[in-house]
This record gives sequence, C-alpha cells and structure tokens, in this order.
Amino acid sequence: MTQMESEQIAPTTRPRLSADSPSIDSGRIAEVSLGTPREEIERRERVFHVDDLDVSYGDNLVLRDVSIDIFEHTVTAFIGPSGCGKSTFIRCFNRMNDLIPNARVTGTVEYHGRDLYARVVDPVEVRRRIGMVFQKPNPFPKSIYDNVAFGPRVLGTKHGLDERVERCLRRAALWDEVKNRLGDSALSLSGGQQQRLCIARALATEPDVLLMDEPASALDPIATAAIEDLMRELKRDYTIIVVTHNMQQAARVADLTAFFSVELGEDGVDRHGVLVEYDTTTKLFTQPADRRTEDYVTGRFG
Ligand SMILES: Nc1ncnc2c1ncn2[C@@H]1O[C@H](COP(=O)(O)OP(=O)(O)OP(=O)(O)O)[C@@H](O)[C@H]1O
Ligand SMILES: [Mg+2]
Repeated sequence: MTQMESEQIAPTTRPRLSADSPSIDSGRIAEVSLGTPREEIERRERVFHVDDLDVSYGDNLVLRDVSIDIFEHTVTAFIGPSGCGKSTFIRCFNRMNDLIPNARVTGTVEYHGRDLYARVVDPVEVRRRIGMVFQKPNPFPKSIYDNVAFGPRVLGTKHGLDERVERCLRRAALWDEVKNRLGDSALSLSGGQQQRLCIARALATEPDVLLMDEPASALDPIATAAIEDLMRELKRDYTIIVVTHNMQQAARVADLTAFFSVELGEDGVDRHGVLVEYDTTTKLFTQPADRRTEDYVTGRFG
C-alpha cells in the first residue's frame, strides 16, 4: 500500500489531547462524569459512520440494518444478550470479519469519511489504526518487551523502540509493575497484567481507535477496575468501543451505549441481531425509549 492510499483512509487521525476532556474519576457510578449531553458528544468528530449494515455467515443473516455513528474521544459501549451479534459488529470496525471465510459484510462503514471497505484500503493498515483487545488476554509467547515491540518492528521501526515500549507500557498503566522484568515471558504475568500488556501492544502501532470485546470479563474485580480506569484515561487520546456483558461496567465507563437485541425473522425461525436503541448511557439506563431496552436494563429480559 502506498503512503497515499494509507492517507486516504485517515487523513487527520493523530490522537489529540483535548484540554477539555472530562476529568478522570475513581470508578464509582455516582462519581463518574458521564453526563455529557448527547448534543455535545455529537459535535465531536465522527470517527465511524455505519449505515444499513448487514452481516451474514454463509446464508445465516446475524445482524440486520445497523446504522450508528461513533464519536471521537468517546467511550461507546455495545450491550445486549448473548448471540445478538456484538462481537460480529465490533469486528466490522477493523475488518476482522475479513479473516472469517464465510462472513459477508454489506452496507456502509466509513472511517473519518472514507469507505473502510474500499478496494484500495489495506486491511493490515486498518488494523494498525484501529487496534483490538479481546476477551481472553492473548499475549504472544515472547518477552514483555517483545510483545509491545512486535507491531512497530513489523512496521519497520528500528529507532526509539525502547522509548516507545516504555511509553505504551506507561499508558497501559503497567510500567511500574514490569519495568524491572521486561525480558520475562509475558505468560508469567497475571491475567489482569496480561490484558494491560495486550492494550500496550495495541497502542504501540499508534492507533486512533481501540476496540475492546469484553476486555474485563475474565478478570477479577480489582483488575477489572484497573481496565475501566484505563479506558477513562485513554479516551482523552483515543476513541474506544467496548462490548460488555456487564451493565454496571457500561454505566461506569461509557458516554454512549448501544443496545442490541435478537429479532425473529419473517419465517419465525431465523434470528438476527438488531440495534434497538443508541443514546447517552444515562438516558439509556434511566429513561429508555424502547420497551425492549427497558426490559433488558431492568433485568426483566427473557
Ligand atoms: N465464525 C462464525 N461462523 C458462523 N456463525 C457465527 C460465527 N461467529 C458468530 N456466529 C453467529 O453469529 C451470531 C452472533 O454471534 P456473536 O459472537 O457476534 O454474538 P455476541 O453478541 O458477541 O454473543 P456473546 O455475548 O455470547 O459473545 C450467533 O448466532 C453466532 O452463532
Ligand atoms: Mg461476543
């Protein structure tokens, strides 16, 4: 891919520090400054614009007609029952579904106004700019240092690696715990440390978006709190999309929340995921517009 082509997908996407970002808080629901009004969020740059998106695996339609905008320096949560297509959907944002042989994505996904699925766009470049962290920490069986240096090395970075590794480990709030053991195997870290290492590894290619698919569901409450603190910190510089099963977590970290549900097809047999409601987290959890959302957030679902 040429420099020009890579610039086509993201002309002005360097992370910026915004002086007026909400302050970091300690993680309690009541203390979180997540009350930013929707109009204010919608004035931020639109990082993704998704319109009429369908996703199928073979003949099986699993997501129908999804339209959503994702805003810069915002944490957006996707919630909904198991099987409604949250993981499928989050993978559309960095073309990870390309790697699933029978997956088919149709509709519009624009990233900073450019078609993410255009033929000139290199999916590898897409994944550099739009990093991903998975449910189960998946560090490479390499040293802590080499995990973080992996992406930059693949991209040909030779100089300043030490500084970059340190910077990313600091950003992932892991540096103090590992600075004296950078040569140790990443697999010797605890689960929560491994997940922060995976975040550091994702940051090392200088993305502007982080996709997180249930990043804390395998972690204990303390490690979970560390990941949540990190999300609130990182949104100053990055745009974050997080899938979570944990509604308290969505309430603690997300500015906006999208609720997905499963709908029966016309034949009464096929089931596919739909986006039911998308609003500020506060509104969605306290005054949902749709009965299905209300049933889910109040625990009456199913
Ligand atoms: N690789 C695949 N091949 C075929 N079908 C798939 C594949 N991945 C997911 N599906 C199907 O797509 C639907 C949505 O799955 P997905 O994993 O996106 O749901 P989810 O909302 O993330 O669920 P969970 O909360 O359990 O993680 C399910 O019916 C699932 O069986
Ligand atoms: Mg999932």
